[in-house]
Amino acid sequence: MKLFLDSANIAHITEAMSWGAIDGVTTNPSLVAKEGQDFFPLLKQICELVNGPVSMETVSRDAQGMIDEGLVFSKLDPNIIVKCPLIKEGLKATRELTARGVRVNVTLCFSASQALLAAKAGAYYVSPFVGRLDDISVDGMALIRDMKTMFANYRFATQILVASVRHPLHVIEAARIGADIATMPFSVLETLVKHPLTDAGLERFLKDWDQLPAKAKAWKTKIGAQLPIR
Ligand code: E4P
Repeated sequence: MKLFLDSANIAHITEAMSWGAIDGVTTNPSLVAKEGQDFFPLLKQICELVNGPVSMETVSRDAQGMIDEGLVFSKLDPNIIVKCPLIKEGLKATRELTARGVRVNVTLCFSASQALLAAKAGAYYVSPFVGRLDDISVDGMALIRDMKTMFANYRFATQILVASVRHPLHVIEAARIGADIATMPFSVLETLVKHPLTDAGLERFLKDWDQLPAKAKAWKTKIGAQLPIR
């Protein structure tokens, strides 16, 4: 499964990319607005940092506006994926952009019927928002299971991009179901790496190491001195 970072924050994207675990980035108008920066320079900077798909969302309500914006985005970088909302106009735009060779991430998906229509329109990704469904007491992961079955039944090429991920269990469950991608905020990515037994184990190892007499640890200082970057 691929992991994407759901963020427009340069510091978070830079840090996450350095871990080697992130395959792409998703953004939305709220995430971009939070950064308070000029849109296109920010978009370019993100594309330079990420060696993989970067989803950028259109902000029109009509299909023609989405198509126009999508065409502009797609010329900025070959890794750009254009996000269109899962409304009738968004489906029209998806069909047209796809026909023109632009990859579309159909976003704000909350039902299996919507997901089916996005796949029919030719979406490259469809983004079901599991966290926002959970928020209203609807099982978000049940939607992922339905989508997985439907897409397999009819061999749709559309990839399932699990979005609105709130905690590590969303990621694990998405992987169990076989979703193609999960996108998450930096705070959730950090929880994936954390384990108290790892921290306690490392503490113990390093404390034990400190007990060694200085002479026995001399090799470390020597190696350090030889390293060209020191
Ligand atoms: C996905 O592409 C969206 O940007 C995102 O996952 C929305 O998540 P939220 O419900 O936490 O805002």
